[in-house]
Amino acid sequence: MRPRIAVSFSRIRLEDKMILEEFAARGLEVDRIDDGDVIWSLQDRQPRWDLLLDRSLGFGRARATAQILESRGVLCVNSARTVAICGDKLAAQVAIEAAGVPTPATRVAFSREAALAAAEELGYPVVIKPTVGSWGRLVARLNDRDAAEAVLEDRELLGNWTHHVYYLQKLVDKPGRDIRLFVIGGRAVAAVYRVSEHWITNTARGGRTENCPVDDRLAEFGRLCASACGAEILAVDLVEDREGALYVLELNHSMEFRNSVAPTGVNIPGLVVDHLLQLATERGS
Ligand SMILES: Nc1ncnc2c1ncn2[C@@H]1O[C@H](COP(=O)(O)OP(=O)(O)O)[C@@H](O)[C@H]1O
Ligand SMILES: [Mg+2]
Repeated sequence: MRPRIAVSFSRIRLEDKMILEEFAARGLEVDRIDDGDVIWSLQDRQPRWDLLLDRSLGFGRARATAQILESRGVLCVNSARTVAICGDKLAAQVAIEAAGVPTPATRVAFSREAALAAAEELGYPVVIKPTVGSWGRLVARLNDRDAAEAVLEDRELLGNWTHHVYYLQKLVDKPGRDIRLFVIGGRAVAAVYRVSEHWITNTARGGRTENCPVDDRLAEFGRLCASACGAEILAVDLVEDREGALYVLELNHSMEFRNSVAPTGVNIPGLVVDHLLQLATERGS
């Protein structure tokens, strides 16, 4: 029997199109769930699908969809637990630190005064980030105490409660690039350098991609990160320092890879679909 598969999305991104094309190439029809239109009934117990691939944009939408469908017995990729960990940088960091994966020196504080003391303890430059966010938004570099005071006051007075969990990180002195590693079924399948003149290297912010060979160390980090958060499909952001030490910055549960297929020569959406079909088969047997 062919698995019944659904893909949820917020607006179809290029990656979603690429994934849908891979399903079509295998002769598989999938249901598309536009999460902006959907109304889920919590009384409806019909699973309707064997497997859901979540491609929703927002952390809240992705987690809620997985929570609802998992309660009906649908295998969600990624799971609600994985989304909850990856969607929150603090949750992800404690999970991977516990698994022995190195992360940049980080301090968390809950008052402006304590956050300022934490920045001084880390030593400038310091990076402040919202624990929930993406595309480099509100990721700010604090070069000195004046900058720290200004940004912390803005976060305190203008932000919501999530911005009042002050999450501060030592700026890793990276060589003009960071690394994005793609992990499917626990296996590191490809990686790119994201090169930028700006210290924020997200491709959504203009970083360009080049192939990064997946060595044993990256493969091991990928395996440990996927197992720490239970992800079937995962992108791991890492930075190297000038000595070559590697640190994991964050985990992404709904990865973007449009600029990574050409430089790596790896058909990432094809591998995603193959892995989903394998999971569906294992489940069905
Ligand atoms: N501690 C850090 N040291 C050096 N660069 C950093 C640090 N934190 C973030 N960056 C840069 O900012 C980018 C965005 O940070 P990240 O933690 O991945 O958040 P986002 O979810 O917004 O992508 C990273 O890809 C990296 O280039
Ligand atoms: Mg990132």
